[in-house]
Amino acid sequence: KRFPEIIINFKIYTEGFGKAGHSIAKAAEMVMNETGVIIGIAPGYMDLHPMSVHYSLPVYAQHIDPVKPGAGTGHILADAVVSAGACGTLINHSEKRLTLADVSLAVEIAKSVHLETIVCTNDVFTSAAAAAFSPEFIAIEPPELIGSGVSVSTADPGIINNSVSAVKNISGDTKVLAGAGIHSGNCVKTAMELGADGVLLASGVVKAKDPYAVLTDLAGGVI
Ligand code: G3P
Repeated sequence: KRFPEIIINFKIYTEGFGKAGHSIAKAAEMVMNETGVIIGIAPGYMDLHPMSVHYSLPVYAQHIDPVKPGAGTGHILADAVVSAGACGTLINHSEKRLTLADVSLAVEIAKSVHLETIVCTNDVFTSAAAAAFSPEFIAIEPPELIGSGVSVSTADPGIINNSVSAVKNISGDTKVLAGAGIHSGNCVKTAMELGADGVLLASGVVKAKDPYAVLTDLAGGVI
């Protein structure tokens, strides 16, 4: 099975839902078809189902709650995300943090419904802790660089290679994504040279004037 090398988190940016969100997904699909680089998207919940139907892209939820079906209200169920067409989910994004116990339960529940797990971490220690749950991916994102336009690849290369070694020592099959401030093919190339298997990014694509051009450049950096 091939996993995405580039995942775009649409967050709750105005440019990321409805018509605007669809044009980003369309651009991602074109670039994936043209380059062969697998591009995943993480749109808002409302767009999971339409986007998973309209585009041949792997679609991820931005979060799930660590709950099982039953008497609960207002939670995001792993099972519902699967039935909406998602193949995986982010867990513990810096903007939607969970306790360690809840990360553990969310990963366990996701696995039980065959949802790929991308556990986000903020430093090398949390990357090591998350590796103990053997998720499909760990996405290391230094919070201070998120949305800054300053790339983790150049501003904090050590956090990438140290997370890669920490993770691979504990869970050899877990892939590591690097994120925060990624905006160009060069950022992607450097992250991969540092041992990352791919990148997770948001503003560089979602807020771009021409997402297709940025995605083409990003895909060119995949090594
Ligand atoms: O989930 C990706 C994200 O937190 C990184 O954001 O805008 O720095 O690419 P950005």
